Amino acid sequence: MNIPVTNALHETANGSAKILDGALAAQAVIHELSEKIAKYVNSGKRKPALTVVLVGDNPASEVYVKNKILTCKEIGIESQLRRYDKNASKEEILAGLHELNRDATIDGILVQLPLPAHLPTGEILDSIAPDKDVDGLHPYNLGLLFAGVPGLQPCTPKGIIALLHFYHIPIKGKNVVVIGRSNLVGKPVAGLLLQQDATVTICHSRTENLSAICRQADILVVAAGKQEMVGKDWVKPGACVVDVGIHRLKDNSNEGQSKSKAKIVGDVLFDEVKPIAGYITPVPGGVGKMTVAMLMVNTIFAYEQHIAM
Ligand code: GUN
Repeated sequence: MNIPVTNALHETANGSAKILDGALAAQAVIHELSEKIAKYVNSGKRKPALTVVLVGDNPASEVYVKNKILTCKEIGIESQLRRYDKNASKEEILAGLHELNRDATIDGILVQLPLPAHLPTGEILDSIAPDKDVDGLHPYNLGLLFAGVPGLQPCTPKGIIALLHFYHIPIKGKNVVVIGRSNLVGKPVAGLLLQQDATVTICHSRTENLSAICRQADILVVAAGKQEMVGKDWVKPGACVVDVGIHRLKDNSNEGQSKSKAKIVGDVLFDEVKPIAGYITPVPGGVGKMTVAMLMVNTIFAYEQHIAM
């Protein structure tokens, strides 16, 4: 395969990539939203409201949901957590969602994923009213995204684009490779990058010559869900590497103590890739922070539609 390699996005300074700080970029978004909400509330409007639905007791989901609720509090969005037992039936959850769909005081509904295996994820997500679908995962909203029409867009993909913009990383005309084809990240991020005039390749578990294709990328988005899969041989020097993975490793070094600490890593071998990449997102502190910030953006988008009605 002989694909011409475009110029490096960024010459690595001191042999080390610039860190794309998701916490910093997210804070800028959060600050702007807080001011926007304060203006609405001071003018006599009701507060925006989000309901998060959590089924079961997945420990990672518990952490994500807690962060979402805390961020709502920080910026002035009313939030409510609806918990269901891990054995809850599809009917029970659908009935709850229908009730939230009809509730005019609720702007956004988010069903935390993954759902327990017995539940049909697609059917449950599709039952959320598209105007309250702050996760942007309803087929209607995904359709708007691919048609290039503004609407509610999935939070992680939207957060990746916002992070690239925050650091003024050029997208137009660049070779972007996305690893992963999920509805949550891979497919929508490819759609958003295409709208930014990138040349986009989507790779997945069946892709042949995967590392060679990745080495052509100016921007490499890794949403494979495979712990530390991408090493230095997959990355073009100077490329921008966006790591969407999140994996909790049990640290056994403090065995014997009551609490074992979980180390968190991504889909990219950070220490190995950092010296050759131009930019890299850390895990944690990269894309994850942007996902939560974009959930807030989407909730305000839904709220603005609702209060204008
Ligand atoms: N689980 C991991 N990421 C997400 C997300 O962006 N939305 C929802 N609903 N669940 C998730």
